[in-house]
Amino acid sequence: MSAHIDPAKPKYYITTPIYYPSSNLHIGHTYCTVMADAMARFKRLSGYDVMFLTGTDEHGQKIQRIAEEAGTTPQAYVDEIVAGVKDLWATMEISYDDFIRTTEARHKVRVQELFKRIYERGDIYRGTYEGWYCTPCESYWTDKQLVDGKCPDCGRPVEWASEDSYFFRLSKYQDQVLALLERTEPEPFLDPETRRNEMIAFVKQGLDDLSVSRSTFDWGIPVPIEEGQVIYVWLDALTNYITALGFPEYNNESRAGYDRYWPADVHLVGKEIVRFHSIIWPALLMSAGLPLPGQIRGHGWLLLDGGKISKSKGNVVDPVILIGRYGVDALKYFLLREYTFGQDGLYTNEVMLNRINGDLANDLGNLLSRTCGMAEKYFDGAVPQATGADALDGELAALATGIAEKVEAHMDRFAFNHALAEIWTLVQRSNKYIDETAPWALAKDEAQKSRLAEVLYALCESLRILSILIHPYMHHSAEEIRRQLGLSPEEQDILWQDAKQWGKEAGYTVKKGESLFPRIDVAKELELLETL
Ligand code: ME8
Repeated sequence: MSAHIDPAKPKYYITTPIYYPSSNLHIGHTYCTVMADAMARFKRLSGYDVMFLTGTDEHGQKIQRIAEEAGTTPQAYVDEIVAGVKDLWATMEISYDDFIRTTEARHKVRVQELFKRIYERGDIYRGTYEGWYCTPCESYWTDKQLVDGKCPDCGRPVEWASEDSYFFRLSKYQDQVLALLERTEPEPFLDPETRRNEMIAFVKQGLDDLSVSRSTFDWGIPVPIEEGQVIYVWLDALTNYITALGFPEYNNESRAGYDRYWPADVHLVGKEIVRFHSIIWPALLMSAGLPLPGQIRGHGWLLLDGGKISKSKGNVVDPVILIGRYGVDALKYFLLREYTFGQDGLYTNEVMLNRINGDLANDLGNLLSRTCGMAEKYFDGAVPQATGADALDGELAALATGIAEKVEAHMDRFAFNHALAEIWTLVQRSNKYIDETAPWALAKDEAQKSRLAEVLYALCESLRILSILIHPYMHHSAEEIRRQLGLSPEEQDILWQDAKQWGKEAGYTVKKGESLFPRIDVAKELELLETL
């Protein structure tokens, strides 16, 4: 894991939640992982030494029950699902640096170490737990927390449960956690603000100590100080963010990853698990005397027919089918462009198909094919470096070279949709530039040959800059644009800074290739998707 540490660069550590391998993942999970991937790629391109962690959260009563119902062991059950999760991320070309499974030895021993440390500090004690338990969410609730007698997180029925248990002194950290949540400098610990206000109100109601062990089932990491108890799945799960880096130290194994990357810059999580990440996780770290993550970012849900897309509700959209039909780049682009970070968004096939057709096939795809087509037709593909004094060119250059900085500002706020909208102003401006300069008319007049060269060179420059700007979000298209422009598609040859410079290439050797995104017949395709 720590093999790629590059001390010459600033570090950036981003995580996704570790997913429950209770059944195959759907487009909602894909949404979160695609955002983390885009951010990781953006940071790498901008010169950071990135650590991008994802994984699976494999213990707990829910998994044990599902495995039993399926007539198999929990381990065999999760092994199969996790293989599918890894396949999905391979298909999506998710660029994670490490994938942690909570059933791995490296994780289990370290969770036990951490449990012991917190116990030795006097923050874990033995008691009895009673309460309303939501099995799917693995959460206990008090009477007043229930909504209509059901789980306040997922709305499903709860059951009364009582057991001997170890408790974590969460109450002791109430004031410190509140101060953390109220912090606004240098930036808020929790974003967006709506979630922050909710969590502040939640902490102000008073924090109860947290039950951190279970004795009614055994699919978990054993409590290291007493037999017959397993560690609460959320303590087990949250700890992955440091165990994957080699902390706490165990068996002389390297903790270089921890020393290099912890604290995390961002934990990216869905809104319903913000509470665990912004209250319980910091309190555990405070107790263990460890640095706190820089920021928790809570994203919204993708909804389908009014409800959350959810494995247990069975209203799943299979990303593999969508990728098979439209490609990875189209799906990633759609997810990042369509939804606003922090808010829920409605998923429909129609919205997706229209995005792909409009923004990708029409706008970006046409810009590339028109430019390359004209470069071949008028210059046999050899476009000389040519910069004239035309105001239109100056305007295009100014727009193009200013976009990277605007994208940086949007990415700082995880506003992927704004970043892409910003980039598409250049796509659209470039298409308009073709209409305004009318190269086909210039081509008819031999005296205009040098102007024609300027126009095509400007278009190639614009596409070169676009190939850098879109790389974090859709690297295949970026590479294909570069190939057609005769530029190196290799990642190490793509530098973010080059998107801020105009007139960089000493001419282009263009070779028109396949169209980036074939046009879709939306009505036909909608029908077909229904049958799938
Ligand atoms: O909560 N739209 O795992 P999980 C957007 N194991 N995001 C969605 C979604 C949807 N329709 N459905 C799920 C867990 N998600 C724990 C995490 S981390 C230490 C432990 C997101 O598989 C959801 O919001 O139930 C959450 O962030 C993530 O998928 C994992 O959900």
